Amino acid sequence: MSNPFYITTPIYYVNDVPHIGHVYTSIASDMLARFARMEGRDVLFLTGTDEHGQKIQKAADAEGIDPKTFVDRVSEGFKSLTPLCHLSNDQFIRTTEERHLKSAQALWLKMQERGFIYKGQYAGWYAVRDEAFYAESELVNGKAPTGAEVEWVEESSYFFKLSAFQEPLLAFYRENPDFIGPKGRKNEVMRFVEGGLNDLSISRSSFKWGVQIPEDSDHVMYVWVDALANYITALDYPDENASNFKKFWPEALHIIGKDILRFHAIYWPAFLMAAGLTPPKRLYAHGWWTNEGQKISKSLGNTIDPIELIETYGVDQIRYFLLREIPFGQDGDFSRAALEQRINSDLANDFGNLAQRVLSFVYKNAEAKVPTPTSLEAQDKALLIEAQELLPRLRENFEKQELHRMIEAIWELVGAANRYVDAEQPWALKKTNPERMATVLYVLLEILRHLAFYIFPVMPQTSMKLLHLLGISTPPLCFKDLQETSLPSGGSLPQPEGLFPRIEKERK
Ligand code: MSP
Repeated sequence: MSNPFYITTPIYYVNDVPHIGHVYTSIASDMLARFARMEGRDVLFLTGTDEHGQKIQKAADAEGIDPKTFVDRVSEGFKSLTPLCHLSNDQFIRTTEERHLKSAQALWLKMQERGFIYKGQYAGWYAVRDEAFYAESELVNGKAPTGAEVEWVEESSYFFKLSAFQEPLLAFYRENPDFIGPKGRKNEVMRFVEGGLNDLSISRSSFKWGVQIPEDSDHVMYVWVDALANYITALDYPDENASNFKKFWPEALHIIGKDILRFHAIYWPAFLMAAGLTPPKRLYAHGWWTNEGQKISKSLGNTIDPIELIETYGVDQIRYFLLREIPFGQDGDFSRAALEQRINSDLANDFGNLAQRVLSFVYKNAEAKVPTPTSLEAQDKALLIEAQELLPRLRENFEKQELHRMIEAIWELVGAANRYVDAEQPWALKKTNPERMATVLYVLLEILRHLAFYIFPVMPQTSMKLLHLLGISTPPLCFKDLQETSLPSGGSLPQPEGLFPRIEKERK
């Protein structure tokens, strides 16, 4: 296998249970990982949990238990997202693992050896919720610009010479114009860096829950140094000759939320450069969900529980909705009405109905077998070509992480296929021209086969079900097979089943 693809989610703070924001990032990354695997690429998909820092220590203190017991419990909830959301991550990393402690310390030592770390005294503002330092000038009405409470911190601290990286970072952004997506975010980062960078406090000495600084047991590492290092720990850093490190670094695509862009776009490449390593290939920052028009927050009590949603509506329905409802990269609103509307119209009516009417017609009127086509007419060829030409469009959108556009393009084919059924009327051909009926049905089954492949990254379970209904059992799916094979005529088809139940409107 060639063409490595390394995709990561942020590692999630374990101060609380998973919510829709976490699930969103993970599902989006999963869609990209699955698509890349179907391209025959060598994929490593990483997710995990961020388990150190003051925020976690406080959450454990509030429950009166030691932090390790606390993180062991909460991280299980995040781990269970993998089966719950049908994530295909290859690794789940925890920052409390031994391999990570070693890696974070090695990164630190490298930065120190190369002269980018010095000891000093920090006096300034810190927001525990964001695990971030803020300059006085950044505060808005005495709070962090994110709205988080800040506290005054004065302690002995190690500093990272971030100021030395202003020019190298700007040069890096210029030389790698695709480093940050979507495009608007890149400008935001560049403006910030152009404004000047202060050295960064990268250790804390007023609490203990963190990775110990090599050779100084009074300090723990600032949680963002520790957290960002996870992306290379998973590749067996500090062994730079490890096969995964050599294969996947710097081929990384970090999917993140817009709130943590600064850490990934500024600190992370600077840390890597300081350690003599290459920055990752690309970051993509997605937007934030509101809930029925309101900002989602624990204090408002309006967090959305992904487990309840998936149990109520189904995992593929939720995956579809999250990826389709808002353009990836922009903010958007979650509402039950919008979710139910999409399930009924896009899934049940458009997609489900197409599959159902074709499959049940073949089952009842073509002896439950894939018919044998005769000569293809222009409209048959046009539809088949449309299905084949969808792949290059999907590839283009994939490169830019335009996930919503990938789905929109697939639904254009669904629409075209539905119009073809209406125009060709196989039910009328049954008496008048059974040969033509066989051809029309064959074309439609081929379209369903293409659709089953194309929806796999978004809705893996439905894809598998549809392939089964088409008499195909070929996991793992790859686009090469899609292109090089076609449905064998004469193959038996099982009794059709609906793909998406409608949501009835009576609930108020
Ligand atoms: N631990 C850090 C990341 C370290 S990565 C080296 C962290 N964790 S987090 O649990 O707070 O957030 C993880 C992700 O969830 C972020 O990408 C964030 O953008 C995302 N979301 C949190 N709330 C969200 C919404 N309401 N909507 C969409 N995504 C949001 O940050």
